[in-house]
Amino acid sequence: MAVLIIAPGLKADWWARELNKQNAALDVRIWPDTGNPSDIEHALAWKPPAGVLATYPNLKVVFSLGAGVDHLLIDPDFPNTAAISRVVDPYLTAGIVEYVVLHVLRYHKNQPALNDQQHAKVWDDRAHELKQADERRVGILGLGELGQSAAKALVALNFDVAGWSRSPKNIPGVTCFHGMDGLAKLLPRTDILVCLLPLTPETEGLLCADLFAQLADGARLINAARGGHLVEEDLIPALDSKRLVHATLDVFRTEPLPKGHPFWNHPKITVTPHNASITDPRSVARQIVEGISAVERGDPLPNAVDTALGY
Ligand code: GLV
Repeated sequence: MAVLIIAPGLKADWWARELNKQNAALDVRIWPDTGNPSDIEHALAWKPPAGVLATYPNLKVVFSLGAGVDHLLIDPDFPNTAAISRVVDPYLTAGIVEYVVLHVLRYHKNQPALNDQQHAKVWDDRAHELKQADERRVGILGLGELGQSAAKALVALNFDVAGWSRSPKNIPGVTCFHGMDGLAKLLPRTDILVCLLPLTPETEGLLCADLFAQLADGARLINAARGGHLVEEDLIPALDSKRLVHATLDVFRTEPLPKGHPFWNHPKITVTPHNASITDPRSVARQIVEGISAVERGDPLPNAVDTALGY
């Protein structure tokens, strides 16, 4: 039994070392130096080239090196006999919670507008309305591990938090909506919209002109999920028409964001390079080695993904 790391662009050597720190006996191989393909029973993967995973006939489990698994499911040849496990890690969750809290607070305290004032050397303490946190309505799309944790952190800061998910959820202090009817109820009561959804055929392109039109006046957007959630052509018109006040984006349809992309220079868009949170091999390798042992013992796979739902 061998474990393959297939994650072009990531530090595969570091992952291999961390796996072997957990279990020195693990036979770890780094793609494309695979050896005999039939040895590979487990793979750690991040954006593997399409078709490659299908070449390992004995592959049992693919461990996504991120919370999202859309990078695996877009492979038309993804082997349907392999199960998928995703990262659920306190550090990864903390990174997302920090990003959401940072940017919600930045909006709450009008920081983008205050930066403009500073550049213009304007001292005006009344130019931008300050509100109490409980007067700011935050709407979180996606109430999985990440969305729930972000919601709880914002509730602790006294924001008025609502959330939306596919199936009903009950989270103390959070007004929960679900289904398409629920989305129509959430949007008009949202001043700051935070997207933490998985990318699936149902959520692709959800952040579009029609959705922006339903938000409260002067709404702001934070997308820390996937670039595919946003219809990029709809964003600048929504900002220019003042339907939206500002957008903070960590994820894009094409990454790295191409140099000529209009988002880079738009004064109402904050761009971060898909680093809201990172998967830390030091903590995640332990989880993966435990997952491999569980499967080898015949126990259920931890953090298993429902491939039909896509998360
Ligand atoms: C990063 O985007 C992840 O899916 O963890």
